[in-house]
Amino acid sequence: MTESLTIPHFGLSDEITMDSSSSFRSRLNARLAKAPSKDGVQRISYMPIMVKALSMALKSYPILNSCVVEGADGSPALAYRSAHNIGIAMDCPNGLIVPNVKNVQDKSILDIAAELQRLQEAGSIGKLAPADLQGGTITLSNIGTIGGTYTSPVLVKSEVCIGAVGQIQRVPRFALDVHGVEQVIPRQILTVSWSADHRVIDGATMAKFNALWKGYLEQPELMASELS
Ligand code: COA
Repeated sequence: MTESLTIPHFGLSDEITMDSSSSFRSRLNARLAKAPSKDGVQRISYMPIMVKALSMALKSYPILNSCVVEGADGSPALAYRSAHNIGIAMDCPNGLIVPNVKNVQDKSILDIAAELQRLQEAGSIGKLAPADLQGGTITLSNIGTIGGTYTSPVLVKSEVCIGAVGQIQRVPRFALDVHGVEQVIPRQILTVSWSADHRVIDGATMAKFNALWKGYLEQPELMASELS
């Protein structure tokens, strides 16, 4: 933590409208209740959707998956990483741990859900393997399962970006109804707080990355349309 705080942190926060992701999740869970996935997943939380969206946004902004290393002459250098090993902050009986889901770029939402389930079960009984905790490239923390809206997440030293999401809340927002008339309607709003290494990531890059990630969550069908 002390070393992490020597990194100049840049922060950015935003709101994401989760209504479409929420109905996507409900439809998927209704299907899983009848027919679990090949890995036995019977229900998913929001995390697998957020994690997959993060990986898809990283494809356009790989610098957010990079790390600062020592170059040949001893000066700092940037190393790009092709694997999206997404760390998930987990509140476990022995404290906070951050195992990572490896190669999210090659995994489906259901694959991610199965791996998260495995990591959560192992974490809850203190049985995570060292490999589960090593090799993370970017981190996502969901404080919303406990409560809270905005936070200032602290970077993992070997990463240049961390995101923390708050609790989804049903709040009033202005929107056009089917007749094009402005109305106040209820929306499910998720808050996100990003911290990035400001030596590597400038504000515009962080904002564009966030906009892409947010777009995937607000229109999850975009994720399906871009999967190869
Ligand atoms: N807002 C509202 N509800 C949320 C939510 C959010 N941001 N995230 C999850 N939920 C809901 C889930 O949908 C689920 O409800 P459901 O049963 O009706 O579907 C319920 O909360 C429990 O979700 P769960 O499956 O336990 O969690 P998850 O997969 O969403 O998250 C962890 C798992 C590991 C991230 C979470 O348990 C955890 O440990 N969070 C704490 C992280 C932390 O301490 N960070 C600190 C550093 S900033």
